[in-house]
Amino acid sequence: MERLDKRLSAAGFSRKEAGACIRTGRVTVDGTVVTAPERRVEETAIVAVDGAPLRTGCCYVMLHKPAGVVTATEDARERTVLDLLPEELRRRGLFPVGRLDKDVTGLVLLTDDGPLGHKLTSPRHHVDKVYEVTVDGVLTEEDRQALADGLKLGDGLQCLPAELRLTDGLDTALLTIREGKFHQVKRMMACLGKSVKTLKRLSMGSLTLDEGLKPGEWRYLTAEERETLVKSD
Ligand code: URA
Repeated sequence: MERLDKRLSAAGFSRKEAGACIRTGRVTVDGTVVTAPERRVEETAIVAVDGAPLRTGCCYVMLHKPAGVVTATEDARERTVLDLLPEELRRRGLFPVGRLDKDVTGLVLLTDDGPLGHKLTSPRHHVDKVYEVTVDGVLTEEDRQALADGLKLGDGLQCLPAELRLTDGLDTALLTIREGKFHQVKRMMACLGKSVKTLKRLSMGSLTLDEGLKPGEWRYLTAEERETLVKSD
């Protein structure tokens, strides 16, 4: 037997979120609404939130990756994104979904949901990723058009069409790409004759970096974020 709120936490809800869900009557145990977070439930009980049975064992964390850490589960020399999480989460076997270079900041999703990780990174799925990119130089309408047409990189790689939304700064833009090859944005910018000064990932598929998270901070995904992500094609 374990506490109902612990059961929700094990499925990726924060303690606070679990308590709130239970107290507001959104949680059922074997079909009956239970509003006491401390209620003990059998291992075999079916716990559901808003009618959807818990995906037990899966945990979803959003991290604002700072510069200077590597997107890996372990590294002999460097600090990794896993090192920014508390011990109990590190022990869960979470892995980062997709990679950001060491100097790149922004959204990293960490989960132990293998199928979801595969879906978000598989080249067949073309998940949109939005980056804020600042370059050495000026981004132009010609650059926007070349990206929209699909760049061919120096090494022959044909990129999918990408969307560049210019901002007032001229050296900064929002870039949406639908693939995730090694150093993709840096190589695209190099192809346009520019070098990347800063790069920050703002979103991946339906998931957007929480502006309230400072670099190095993390939080669990909300129930809504999880559902949208898991259901997306
Ligand atoms: N493009 C890059 O060049 N680097 C990243 O980390 C992500 C996208």
